[in-house]
Amino acid sequence: MVENKKYYIKTYGCQMNEHDSEKIAGMLEEKGYNPADELEKADLIFLNTCTVRENAELKVFGKVGSLKRLKRANPDLIIGIGGCMMQVEEPVQKIKEKFPHVDLVIGTHNLHKLPELVSEIEESDQRIISVWDQEKGIIPDLPSVRKSDFQAWVTIMQGCDNYCSYCIVPYVRGHERSRLKENIINEVENLIEDGVIEITLLGQNVNSYAQDLEADYDFADLLAELDEIEGLKRIRYMTSHPRDFNEKTIKTIADSNKVCEHFHLPIQSGSNDVLYEMNRGYTREDYLAMIDNIKEHFDHYSITTDIIVGFPGETDENFQDTLDIVKEVEFDMAFTFKYSKRTGTPAAKKDNQISEEVKDRRLQKLMKVQNKISLRQNKKLEGKNLEVLVEGESKNNPATFMGRSRTNKLVIFPRQEGLIGKVVKVKIDNAQSWTLYGDVIET
Ligand code: 5AD
Ligand code: SF4
Repeated sequence: MVENKKYYIKTYGCQMNEHDSEKIAGMLEEKGYNPADELEKADLIFLNTCTVRENAELKVFGKVGSLKRLKRANPDLIIGIGGCMMQVEEPVQKIKEKFPHVDLVIGTHNLHKLPELVSEIEESDQRIISVWDQEKGIIPDLPSVRKSDFQAWVTIMQGCDNYCSYCIVPYVRGHERSRLKENIINEVENLIEDGVIEITLLGQNVNSYAQDLEADYDFADLLAELDEIEGLKRIRYMTSHPRDFNEKTIKTIADSNKVCEHFHLPIQSGSNDVLYEMNRGYTREDYLAMIDNIKEHFDHYSITTDIIVGFPGETDENFQDTLDIVKEVEFDMAFTFKYSKRTGTPAAKKDNQISEEVKDRRLQKLMKVQNKISLRQNKKLEGKNLEVLVEGESKNNPATFMGRSRTNKLVIFPRQEGLIGKVVKVKIDNAQSWTLYGDVIET
């Protein structure tokens, strides 16, 4: 055990990484470390990195460079880097050669080794680069320090076998591995005992949950079983694959009480040619049929998506197909990205790459179209009452609180003590593209 030592974790990327950071914090706290409120005050700094797009990587290198100054001032400082970027050879090589102030590099498959490796560094002052190129065995259960008292992430599966042609995730997170449902349910029950009322099930492709296990059981069955657990109020899940989001899942959600009516279904493109080249396994017609199915089953719901513009070979017509489907579906929100070339993926080898100017132009156009739709969708909620789980003070104004509706909309209302962690009813009086404003009418 170390005494009076502090750690600071900086997380890049998705919820999976956020949750891994909670596990890193859990392992460090078991070693006796305490959280530092500022990077400058830490004895151990850990960067949990993302490599899904190039700009995530550039940010990490910027940060690593800036830590040199702190290491110079305090040679005992331990600097560690982990996460998806460390499963890729080039950045690891660059850290090895150009950033000698980094003490530890650890991969995503051997994260559970972190306490041992940190001890070795504490004792011998040596530099350790330890990245397993493959996952070995099942997902380990690690201690974790949660950011929230009433919300929690629960990993149900890891890895991805889809190999979308643009995506690096299968190469850095490995094959799909599902956790046993007994372990998941056990974890959820323990969380409820700790006061958790909302869980978010995590996986790169939650809809293929349990397909790797020898059991006649799937994601919809898991949702149905979790829905029965007493004390739990809300169930969310990330991320779905439209190809696997089947009728059974839609029906199960419609029949459940706790699974939230928020559908995040990354479409990536509205063009069948591009979808084929992306290896997504569905057509625009399949996607639209799935959306119709959702609309038939629910009165109140939200649909969000991810879209990539400028995939290699994307023509103006292909991009127009994306704009058209965005208008047809009327997404509540879309996360929009410029295609980013990831070394090792099939799309990176294509010789019909799109110029930055064209990507920029398409992204701007798409955002403009989507923002208008988001505003229009939110305006429909003015005058309506939404069930909101109050999360805490809003970012920019301590006189207000923020929370999320079941449909995952950000809702802001005047501060009222005693409401954090509670589900309240808020009447919406002003809707903007990203935020709803209102007043609590029932606690
Ligand atoms: N370039 C741009 N966006 C990407 N995404 C994944 N890989 C890439 C890439 N190479 C996007 C997809 C995915 C989201 C998490 O990130 O839209 O759904
Ligand atoms: Fe990447 Fe496709 Fe897997 Fe999502 S489903 S993580 S986009 S390979």
